[in-house]
Amino acid sequence: MNRKDFLVNACTLCLSAAAVSSLLPSCASTRYVSGNLGKDGLLVSRDEFKINQKGSTAYRSFIIIRNDALQFPICIYRFSDEEYSALWMRCTHQGAELQASGDVLQCPAHGSEFNNRGEVRNGPADNALRTFPVTISNNDLFIDLRKQA
Ligand code: FES
Repeated sequence: MNRKDFLVNACTLCLSAAAVSSLLPSCASTRYVSGNLGKDGLLVSRDEFKINQKGSTAYRSFIIIRNDALQFPICIYRFSDEEYSALWMRCTHQGAELQASGDVLQCPAHGSEFNNRGEVRNGPADNALRTFPVTISNNDLFIDLRKQA
């Protein structure tokens, strides 16, 4: 291997490592929980949003509830300790499962996007996502699956 080939290979390796390491935090930051499913809704601890970092506490902006009893996941966004939204992750265009990316839910089928309150940001979907009322009881969130927020 000559000097030029060595440098090209070394640079390619460094760029690949940098690209992979930049993806890891975003993968690691998505938290999936099953919640406790009851007759009327789901209970999820507010602690699921906490990230403990060397003596201080930070909070995830969202978590995703995946439960075998639910046809689609529910994304819960945290706006403050007292304010949350719960969004049914089913695209209102043709029913594909959405993917959460920061404060946006994206549809892999045809590209619709929804904000963290379920409103359409980009079509082809025309209608907002189904949302559920979220109430706080002690340290738990109750997501009422009987109603629409
Ligand atoms: S099913 Fe989501 S944009 Fe078509």
